Amino acid sequence: MLNAITPTPTDPLWALTGRFKADPRPEKLDLLIGVYRDESGETPVMEAVHQAEMHWARGRVSKTYPPLAGHETFNQLMSRQLLGTPALIERAVTQQTVGGTGALRLLADLIAHLRSDVTIWVSDPGYVNHEPIFRAAGLKVQKFPYRQVGGDLDVAAMLNGLEGAHQGDVLVLHACCHNPSGIDMPPELWSSLSGLCRKKGIVPLIDSAYHGLGDGLEADLAGLRYMAETVGEVLVAASCSKNMGLYSERVGCATILREKPGAADDVRGVLQGLARRSYSMPPYHGASLAAMVMEDEALRESWLLELEEMRLRIVGNRRALAEAFLNRTNRADLIAVGKQKGMFSILPLNTDQMMRLREGFGIYGTDFGRINIAGMSSSDADRVADAVLAVMSNMEPPG
Ligand SMILES: Cc1ncc(COP(=O)(O)O)c(C=O)c1O
Repeated sequence: MLNAITPTPTDPLWALTGRFKADPRPEKLDLLIGVYRDESGETPVMEAVHQAEMHWARGRVSKTYPPLAGHETFNQLMSRQLLGTPALIERAVTQQTVGGTGALRLLADLIAHLRSDVTIWVSDPGYVNHEPIFRAAGLKVQKFPYRQVGGDLDVAAMLNGLEGAHQGDVLVLHACCHNPSGIDMPPELWSSLSGLCRKKGIVPLIDSAYHGLGDGLEADLAGLRYMAETVGEVLVAASCSKNMGLYSERVGCATILREKPGAADDVRGVLQGLARRSYSMPPYHGASLAAMVMEDEALRESWLLELEEMRLRIVGNRRALAEAFLNRTNRADLIAVGKQKGMFSILPLNTDQMMRLREGFGIYGTDFGRINIAGMSSSDADRVADAVLAVMSNMEPPG
């Protein structure tokens, strides 16, 4: 059987990360992978998470199997965090998953289980793993344009692109901090898309991997909550990787909302069955820490303060980079980095130019132009702006 294997190239992002590590230049800059970094370049363990972990270790909690739905308190607190009001929480069921990726896959399996003939609509550009996850569940995927003209979202192109969506199709939207563009949807667009979903019977699936890192925790969830308030059936995939720094613990959840309070309870058994034949139950440790942080008032306060510090650092980096561009050019697609949200933006550079940015200047972004704004510091802004403009105008790096 294994003779049928043909070599598969390493994932391009991990391949580039390997090249970054091997690069001997001390001034090299890693803007590749989507993790938050502090001013010293570290991905910190948040203080509240550390406190929760010490408390957990002292408690000697049994390592027996957890329930199929994962950590029940975590599930309740995530419902509350994501949805905010009892009217929405009553319509929802939340199940802990293996990170945000696991939430997307569980929802993909649920959709395939219920209606394998539907199409999943994902943004182009979009999160690189959306299409593979839905395809792996046996679903069809189509893309709608999500691009900037002069630094703003081309709303007409987006709505045009969605014209082919039919009843029962699923529309994947990023709650905030769109990966990879950093371009978030204004309230009017959430409203138009809600209208489209209601008119055509399309189910929105909101992927929330960065809430807290754009405009603040509550503001970042406004679009998601608006959808939940105005559309009967909504699917949500959420991650605690970035906003709690729990990347390696694999903590996330899938939330399903139905039209009437209590109606989502029917989904519980189906979700648990899907998890049972995939990974049985999700890891308990990280979810226990997340639950403690959300439940304990002092830990919650500390977490929210640190999250806000992280957000402000990203905003500061964005401002510094936008200013550095503005001092050198009036190109709107570069200056727009200042008003985009979250960790990512796309530089208007092609694959060859991104390669020159890496090789000539030691600045590592992905081949299609994505850079992680949280990977730099505001003192790097001038250097990054100089390098980007040099690459754009075909100049040689300084000798
Ligand atoms: C838009 C989006 N969704 C989901 C995920 C996956 O989250 P996790 O790392 O928790 O699996 C990511 C991670 O980068 C993401 O950017």
